Amino acid sequence: MKITYLGHSSLSIQLKNINIIVDPFISGNELAEHIDISVLQADFILITHAHEDHILDVETIAKRTGAKVISNFEIVNYYGKLGITGHPMNHGGSWEFSFGKLTYTNAVHSSSFPDGTYGGQPGGFVLESDEGNIYIAGDTALTMDMKLIALQTKLDLAILPIGDNFTMGIESAIIASDFIQCNYILGVHYDTFGYIKIDHLKAKELFSKSGKKLALLEIGNSLTL
Ligand code: NI
Ligand code: MN
Repeated sequence: MKITYLGHSSLSIQLKNINIIVDPFISGNELAEHIDISVLQADFILITHAHEDHILDVETIAKRTGAKVISNFEIVNYYGKLGITGHPMNHGGSWEFSFGKLTYTNAVHSSSFPDGTYGGQPGGFVLESDEGNIYIAGDTALTMDMKLIALQTKLDLAILPIGDNFTMGIESAIIASDFIQCNYILGVHYDTFGYIKIDHLKAKELFSKSGKKLALLEIGNSLTL
């Protein structure tokens, strides 16, 4: 599994020759100006919740590529009205897709579209595949529900928000990684705007003091499981 960081909480995941985009917010991110969304490949687009900084480029990418949207019921319905195909899920439910098994997990946050449409309850995803198991937390507070993930899945990597203010900050993300029993974290949802700027060195130090590894990728760079 190859995971490429596209800035903010946006990712591109390649596994089994299938391309998955997560929470695309690229054209609105000054830090991601060098990413050309017109060449991004997508068979599926995973959406954690309806906030603009997670959905801005969904319509553009889905209409160009024909990618199927996977999210909660309300978000999939919203895109269905725009002619975009999707697979609706809800919290705690799993489905076997061509790339692996996906579960829509709980998140403590809010979720409405930029036009005010209700976006359902926010979530995250656990993805289990032959090429590794990952947790994409989405925007969330630290929550006891994260302990449930470790009861069912041995994670190889967790993608956690670390920017604070709108989501968990670094200290909470370290506790979250204890709850999910995962020592390899890819940090997301930091630096994009003023409220969420972080000190990279300090963040990495705090994780390593807790016996964990925090990866912070340059936008456009990848890690492989
Ligand atoms: Ni949000
Ligand atoms: Mn967000």
